[in-house]
Amino acid sequence: MAKPCVIFMLCSLVIISTSTAAAGGLKEGPEAVEEWFEKLPYAKEKLTKLHFYFHDTVSGKNITSYTVAQSNITFKSPTSFGLVSVADDLLSVGPEPDSKIMGRAQGIYGSDSLEELKLLMILNLAFTDGKYNGSTLSVLGHNPILHKYREMPIVGGSGVFRLARGIATAQTVWYNLTTNNAVVEYTVMVLHY
Ligand SMILES: *[C@@H]1O[C@H](CO)[C@@H](O)[C@H](O)[C@H]1NC(C)=O
Ligand SMILES: *[C@@H]1O[C@H](CO)[C@@H](O)[C@H](O)[C@H]1NC(C)=O
Ligand SMILES: *[C@@H]1O[C@H](CO)[C@@H](O)[C@H](O)[C@H]1NC(C)=O
Ligand SMILES: *[C@@H]1O[C@H](CO)[C@@H](O)[C@H](O)[C@H]1NC(C)=O
Repeated sequence: MAKPCVIFMLCSLVIISTSTAAAGGLKEGPEAVEEWFEKLPYAKEKLTKLHFYFHDTVSGKNITSYTVAQSNITFKSPTSFGLVSVADDLLSVGPEPDSKIMGRAQGIYGSDSLEELKLLMILNLAFTDGKYNGSTLSVLGHNPILHKYREMPIVGGSGVFRLARGIATAQTVWYNLTTNNAVVEYTVMVLHY
């Protein structure tokens, strides 16, 4: 039942963005933002799909995520409850460690379930390449890391992604039990103007 409706919604919202969505073309500053909001009633919402690999490197060379806090039960807890990390993880085009960088996932994640391996994700996806360079998307998500697919809300954005909303779907590509390093595939569907 839901399928035709979803397809219809996507079809009516997708705008093939071959043209002028460049972050470089977007004016910054409070007056420019005000002007942008004034023109909003005439703006068309568009749908953008982003695909990248998230490298969570917690040990070995080039560490990008560090533990910053723990609870008094963290190391007795089967879920490492209360363990909090701050990350500046790489986002790249492919899963390989030397793949082209598209941006960084900067923020905090922490174990917030006593019973299931699950992370609270509070991240900004800060893009550094191409037309999204300088634009960000904010993720506030529930990430049960052992599930095949984890759906996390995109709750906002900046630059090209002003007033964004959407869904990030995460899927682990590999997880090394020795190093605890992981590569996670992200597919992001985002509505913005
Ligand atoms: C660590 O970073 C350096 C410099 O960017 C790079 O040459 C090296 O290949 C990286 N090592 C790993 C294991 O990714
Ligand atoms: C953890 O801290 C709480 C609150 O201070 C305390 O009540 C509890 O006994 C502590 N638990 C352990 C295992 O130390
Ligand atoms: C992204 O934007 C920054 C700041 O404007 C600039 O310094 C950098 O060269 C840009 N990077 C790419 C890959 O275009
Ligand atoms: C996990 O990492 C260790 C240390 O770098 C490496 O020796 C091992 O081959 C890796 N395991 C897998 C399954 O990739």
